Amino acid sequence: MSERLCTFIDRYRETVETALDENLPISLQPQAEQFNQAIRYAIFPGGKRWRPMLTLMGAEIAGADPERAIGTACAMEYLHTSSIIFDDLPAMDDAATRRGRESLHVVFGESIALLAALALFNESYSLLVRDARQNGCCDAGLNLVSEAANCIGVNGMIGGQAVDLTLKGTGQCSDALASRNLKTTGLMRLTVMAGAAVCGADQRDLDALADFGESLGMAYQICDDLLDELGLSHELGKPAGQDNRHGRSSYVAEFGVEGAHQQASSLIQKGRQSLSARFGDRPASALLIDSAEIILGGAGRLAASTV
Ligand code: IPE
Ligand code: IPE
Ligand code: MG
Ligand code: MG
Ligand code: MG
Repeated sequence: MSERLCTFIDRYRETVETALDENLPISLQPQAEQFNQAIRYAIFPGGKRWRPMLTLMGAEIAGADPERAIGTACAMEYLHTSSIIFDDLPAMDDAATRRGRESLHVVFGESIALLAALALFNESYSLLVRDARQNGCCDAGLNLVSEAANCIGVNGMIGGQAVDLTLKGTGQCSDALASRNLKTTGLMRLTVMAGAAVCGADQRDLDALADFGESLGMAYQICDDLLDELGLSHELGKPAGQDNRHGRSSYVAEFGVEGAHQQASSLIQKGRQSLSARFGDRPASALLIDSAEIILGGAGRLAASTV
């Protein structure tokens, strides 16, 4: 990892963890103790935490103090975590482990898992509004909520998950891959631009960040598919081989390990161009590019070990 990326992550790691704790939706009802425990279990100790970091980097690139987007960074982690709680349910991918331990529904039951995911999902939207209001950017906050609904909605993450389920058992299906990957590109687009948005960044900055986010999201899902194909469950912290088990179409199934990795690499290159066209060689944009390289590198090492 580059020194500048290490420094950035070290600087904000604790801030993110504290904010995730402070903003956690917690029910005040005396009977909700188990429900509250489930919400906490979902967020702590957590996974790689790429999304909140990427949101803070987006704010920094737009010239804002990342701390002004900390609620928004939490919102991205809550949205992401809610999506994987749903994703692991028996009705979806039926995965019994996540982040190195039992999935939420295995420990707390499906009904509490569903409600915990909804609680995190619901909290996210209000955090976007709160940050924007505190930054004196109410109009930007309203636009962002609308953008969030698009990125998460039927033509974003939720729609992508629906396509993914529809493709179960159909094997290769290259036309549908971009739609299927909306499950990840939708939220990643939002994640990379949201921190800048709540700080009142210029629309052209937001467009460049959103373009980078989409390319990164597509590459992220391809890398996840590579890890699913090549990784080991105990290293991934979730079951390996899920895409095969569900007979699911993916870039790996369609183009092979090397072809998929090459596509992810070209996507990162495309993302890099979107950033440099808008931000030139502003040092903060190197943070996003370094992050993308790390994500690609993890899958790349496994891919290289197969040749
Ligand atoms: C897993 O995401 C689900 C996808 C969108 C591919 P991550 O690999 O970022 O999961 P965590 O947050 O680190 O557990
Ligand atoms: C999940 O994709 C995408 C979302 C949760 C939106 P996957 O089903 O490939 O994620 P993993 O492999 O279970 O983490
Ligand atoms: Mg899935
Ligand atoms: Mg899954
Ligand atoms: Mg996967």
